[in-house]
Amino acid sequence: MRGVRLRPATPDDARFMSEMLVEAANWSALPSRPRVAVLDDPRVLRYIAGWIRPGDIGLIAMDGNDAPIGAGWVRIFPPDDPGAGFVGVAVPELTLGVNPQWRAQGVGRALLTGLHERAVQAGHGRVSLSVDRANHARRLYASEGYTVVSSGERADVMVRVLV
Ligand SMILES: CC(C)(COP(=O)(O)OP(=O)(O)OC[C@H]1O[C@@H](n2cnc3c(N)ncnc32)[C@H](O)[C@@H]1OP(=O)(O)O)[C@@H](O)C(=O)NCCC(=O)NCCS
Repeated sequence: MRGVRLRPATPDDARFMSEMLVEAANWSALPSRPRVAVLDDPRVLRYIAGWIRPGDIGLIAMDGNDAPIGAGWVRIFPPDDPGAGFVGVAVPELTLGVNPQWRAQGVGRALLTGLHERAVQAGHGRVSLSVDRANHARRLYASEGYTVVSSGERADVMVRVLV
């Protein structure tokens, strides 16, 4: 993590964040689905569409040259059009992605803990997410206090209570 810094995400980060969203959607895809095909799916696109909206909270991780290397953000979805990790009204859902060459160096954990702090500051009591049970990201979430609240065929919905 040497030289890595975090900063709040801005509207100008939408393009990079959509790349990280593609990484998250493609976590196991071999070969990876093309960016345009992933973002063509409204169930994926909705996590970044219109960035930045009221209530969105995002962090960008940057390398020593201020180039973006990872992003994490939370967004609230309405109960009548819930996200994959929906657990309740006004509970924001997390998206997290790190450039492949920067993984397993603590960047994802730093983004996650930074987002928790900001979510607390924004008055949130919980954050939720949906993660495939085979994705090693699940270990990161469990180690940061997320617990499984429901399970689908392949994915778990996990919640972190913020204190
Ligand atoms: C998931 C992801 C964001 C984690 O970011 P990261 O910077 O690689 O994670 P960190 O280096 O902070 O590691 C945190 C923990 O994740 C787990 N982890 C990370 N890389 C791992 C690997 N290759 N194998 C197994 N566990 C791993 C470990 O539990 C690790 O904790 P440890 O270092 O104490 O062992 C990143 O791997 C990624 O972008 N993956 C593709 C997108 C994705 O799947 N997003 C989540 C969708 S729900």
